[in-house]
Amino acid sequence: MKKNILITGGAGFIGSHVVRLFVNKYPGYKIVNLDALTYAGNLENLKDVEHAPNYFFEHVNILEPDMLLNVFEQHDITDVIHLAAESHVDRSILSPMDFIYTNIVGTVNLLNVAKSYWKENLNTHRFHHVSTDEVYGTLGDEGFFTEETAYAPNSPYSASKASSDHFVRAYGETFHIPYVITNCSNNYGPNHFPEKLIPLFINNIMHKKPLPVYGKGENTRDWLYVIDHARAIDLVFHEGRNGEHYNVGGFNEWKNIDLVKLLCKQMDEKLKREAGESEKLISYVKDRPGHDLRYAIDATKINKELGWKPSVTFEEGLSATIDWYLQNEAWLKHVTSGEYQNYYTEQYSNR
Ligand code: NAD
Ligand code: DAU
Repeated sequence: MKKNILITGGAGFIGSHVVRLFVNKYPGYKIVNLDALTYAGNLENLKDVEHAPNYFFEHVNILEPDMLLNVFEQHDITDVIHLAAESHVDRSILSPMDFIYTNIVGTVNLLNVAKSYWKENLNTHRFHHVSTDEVYGTLGDEGFFTEETAYAPNSPYSASKASSDHFVRAYGETFHIPYVITNCSNNYGPNHFPEKLIPLFINNIMHKKPLPVYGKGENTRDWLYVIDHARAIDLVFHEGRNGEHYNVGGFNEWKNIDLVKLLCKQMDEKLKREAGESEKLISYVKDRPGHDLRYAIDATKINKELGWKPSVTFEEGLSATIDWYLQNEAWLKHVTSGEYQNYYTEQYSNR
């Protein structure tokens, strides 16, 4: 069936991988990337698909409902995959309101527009909300987050994502919007903005700058290669059951300090530095307030129901990620200097 899919946040880290996968895999679909191009949105991430005949870009903020409705009408949007969000926990501690506006109000705007545009034959449509495992709060040394784990968010970021998940559910129950929600663990891979642990530390190691490990480095995260997350979104979007949550994770838990040491080791080898050189850059700094101790996903449901599992090991994925950053120094330079924000003007000013 022909679909006109609105992918929000498609210029960001995960969104750009989802857009690329859909544009290339489904030439019969129209893929509309809607993004406000905040500091985290970078159209340079999509240079390889920007001229594809089934790809369209709309520079729109999800806080503008009239503009959203225009996009629905102009492209006759049949489905939504919603990734646009403020995504960085540390920024949510500094500035919670930005997260409340974009993540909660923006999501409700999108739901309202979908509801009013998809008046009839609701069952032919789908709203796929991309969420996080952080809504479940934190784990102790044992156990896993399942789809039945109660929500207990601890940061303004995770509270805003939990709230948006609840609104998606409520619009499903009350207004019969067909929806699915995916709750994924920590992603890593190419095009990751260098404010998050892995790309920040790769950049700092490249430039021999300190590696600021929060607290004692004992917090644990479950890491998944971004392309495997995009594959999971593709599967759940097409085959997931309406009204269901699917947890997505890497079966790959790492204490931060062990991950940082592995990263240092791989980077020393690739940069032909002496063994142990980059580890000397580790600097323990004040902990993140409300720092969740451990995340670990039980991804049995998506595995059993849809046959999804990660396709790369962490060592392979991390090595490929480091190679990408070493080969794309210009991307990193543009992002850290802010130059990437000129790309939109240069690329689209004559269109
Ligand atoms: P990102 O910060 O890299 O990208 C977010 C994108 O959303 C950017 O392109 C930005 O310009 C756009 N955006 C922000 N505010 C907007 C607004 N008001 N209107 C329109 N566009 C706006 O984020 P990411 O890491 O790619 O995460 C994408 C989604 O996946 C988020 O919803 C996040 O909560 C979720 N998620 C992320 C991870 C992770 O590890 N990064 C894990 C699980 C779930
Ligand atoms: O679990 C999914 C979530 O993963 C997503 O929903 C978020 O959008 C994404 O940002 C990520 O959140 P985290 O807070 O886990 O990711 P971050 O890369 O910021 O931090 C990973 C761990 O590393 C965390 O325990 C904090 C620590 N850290 C982070 C930074 C940036 C440091 O020790 N030093 C740092 O400088």
